[in-house]
Amino acid sequence: MTNTPENPMYPENTMEKLISLCKRKGFIYQGSEIYGGLAGTWDYGPLGVALKQNIQNLWWKKFVLDREDMYGIDAAILMNQEVWKASGHVGGFSDPLVEDLKTHKRHRADHLLEEQGIDPREMTPSQMDAYIKGKGIKSPDGNPLGDVRQFNMMLKTSVGANEDSSSISYLRPETAQGIFVNFKNVVDSFHPKLPFGIAQIGKAFRNEIAPRDFIFRVRELEQMEIEYFVRPENWEERFEYLYNEQQDFLAEIGLRKERLHKIIVPAADRAHYSKHSIDTEFDFPFGQKELLGLAYRTDFDLNAHKDASKVDISYFDESEADPEKKRLVPHCIEPTFGVGRLLLAVLADAYREDNLGDEPRVYLQLSPRVAPILVAVSPLLKNKPQLVEKAREVYMTLRKAYPGRVVFDDNGNIGKRYRRQDEIGTPFCVVIDFDTVEQNSGVTLRYRDTGEQKRMSVEELIATISCHLE
Ligand code: GAP
Repeated sequence: MTNTPENPMYPENTMEKLISLCKRKGFIYQGSEIYGGLAGTWDYGPLGVALKQNIQNLWWKKFVLDREDMYGIDAAILMNQEVWKASGHVGGFSDPLVEDLKTHKRHRADHLLEEQGIDPREMTPSQMDAYIKGKGIKSPDGNPLGDVRQFNMMLKTSVGANEDSSSISYLRPETAQGIFVNFKNVVDSFHPKLPFGIAQIGKAFRNEIAPRDFIFRVRELEQMEIEYFVRPENWEERFEYLYNEQQDFLAEIGLRKERLHKIIVPAADRAHYSKHSIDTEFDFPFGQKELLGLAYRTDFDLNAHKDASKVDISYFDESEADPEKKRLVPHCIEPTFGVGRLLLAVLADAYREDNLGDEPRVYLQLSPRVAPILVAVSPLLKNKPQLVEKAREVYMTLRKAYPGRVVFDDNGNIGKRYRRQDEIGTPFCVVIDFDTVEQNSGVTLRYRDTGEQKRMSVEELIATISCHLE
């Protein structure tokens, strides 16, 4: 699965155990599994979808709904091929590739160097080539390697019945371009004042040479991106602000701060459109790797589309006093988040093994904000109609308070139900017993992390759970 050494801050074989848990419990399955799979694709099961939607909903709320300066869009995945020529992706969206001369398997040259303990981040492809040749580095199968060359990662397709050069299209490799080509539309419809942002959540596709590490590097991915437009003189201050907003979001979904790292991306490793980039890396079980990014894209993209489309997409800034500076092509700061990587970080960070009541257990210490199931409601015994009836009543009340986030669970004995819910990260279990129905003494709330139980009324229960969602 990965050649990277294990990270000592995780229990042994965390990735293996997590992948197996994800499949068993219905979070994530291998794509096209019954046909032997398709490398770099994964399918989300019911719990995976719920976790993903919770992360996306929190993001959309924080960055779009709760703000007055942000506009949400949902652009088409297929775009006119001219978009990708203008954006520089046809010419420059590539990774360094090297071929095993015997097996003809292709490998990422930078990954091979990393495995040799070399940091390839500031190396050009020809420097990588020289290093590999100079040191006689072999392929993972022990064979000689060819020349390092650039491999374009866009997935090409053709649109319509004819297959000629005019029908070429690409599955978008980033959602960002859908935003840039709609900049003028949003400005014309809403007349936003600078600074303002346009946000989008959607799929992107990359023909990765070496998909790996479960959902970390995939060929079909999902991004949550913002293009935030500013006057050029204000970019630094806004960049700093958006960096802090990204970090706040990571705390909101429950990631531990000490596992996050701020990396100023060296010039040689920045994307072709960026003048300054800060990545946030995370301590994954397979090493410290990029989680998300923040880039100062300047006026690169808007200017590129302005020149290529011949449409004037400049902006008229009414609030600017200097008449010379009123018309401009705004500069852009881009906070970008990979949904799959966030989800993997959340799952890995939450993975726990401990002993509870002298029995070993595995549980996910997911934040209540993102856990697929927030509350599981159970009658103590499933063959006692008065307990079941009351439990159904409490369940219906909680469903109204937390739509889509409550389950009714009467499978197996109560101990087994707790373990099952712990393993999928359900933070709260509510049990209805004889005291609830006979003495009207409230329900029992059981906390996942400690196993502690408290008796309380249903009103108190809702107040207690809601506190954890703030
Ligand atoms: N619009 C800018 C952009 O696409 P990027 O650094 O190439 O920048 C942004 O990608 C984010 O998308 C990354 O930080 C990562 O979270 C996610 N991402 C990129 N490639 C990915 C892949 N092959 N598999 C999973 N996530 C990926």
